[in-house]
Amino acid sequence: MPETKRTPLPHLNHFYPTVAAVVTVRCGDRLNAMACAWHSALSFRPPLYGVLISPKRFSYSLIIEAGAFAVNFLPFEKAELIAAVGRNSGRDMDKFARFGIAVRPVPDALAPILQEAYAAYECRLVARHTCGDHDLFVGEIVRSHVDKRAFGEESVLDVGRVRPALYLGADRYVTTSNAPPRHLPGR
Ligand SMILES: Cc1cc2nc3c(=O)[nH]c(=O)nc-3n(C[C@H](O)[C@H](O)[C@H](O)COP(=O)(O)O)c2cc1C
Repeated sequence: MPETKRTPLPHLNHFYPTVAAVVTVRCGDRLNAMACAWHSALSFRPPLYGVLISPKRFSYSLIIEAGAFAVNFLPFEKAELIAAVGRNSGRDMDKFARFGIAVRPVPDALAPILQEAYAAYECRLVARHTCGDHDLFVGEIVRSHVDKRAFGEESVLDVGRVRPALYLGADRYVTTSNAPPRHLPGR
């Protein structure tokens, strides 16, 4: 049995790894991007995706004002960029200019879709719930942007082609191995 620990403030690193996503926002002329490890699909119909964002983040009020955000999934090769947008605030700099972040020319995009993303969800903000010291931003996916070469049968990520950026907590990143996935279909 693993050791059970009661700590007043657990690290919450124990559930990792998760995909380290980049949440982007456009508010007027202002673009911003932040790393986000706390995110999840919430519903198929309607298609909802949730991101948890602390009110301390500059992105927090930008997303509320814009009423939209995008969730971008970048490969492991871009872990340094993910760390950079996760360690610096848009209050102090234009991260797109500083880190040379390229944006896809998507007409009428609600939020920046990153050139380097193998997939991205463009979301309209439909609800926000306070969960302790973070808020759950619920986005309705209005468009998904997918690099078809990155996905195989049944839209499963082809980990032979794309190595996802996985976050372990405490500034550590890993990715998937070269072993083929185990396919374990039900009866
Ligand atoms: C890998 C990684 C994951 C992160 N995940 C989250 C998250 O899920 N929610 C959150 O509020 N902040 C998260 N952060 C912190 C923000 O990305 C960070 O505070 C960022 O500088 C906020 O940028 P902004 O002030 O420009 O919005 C994460 C940071 C890193 C490095």
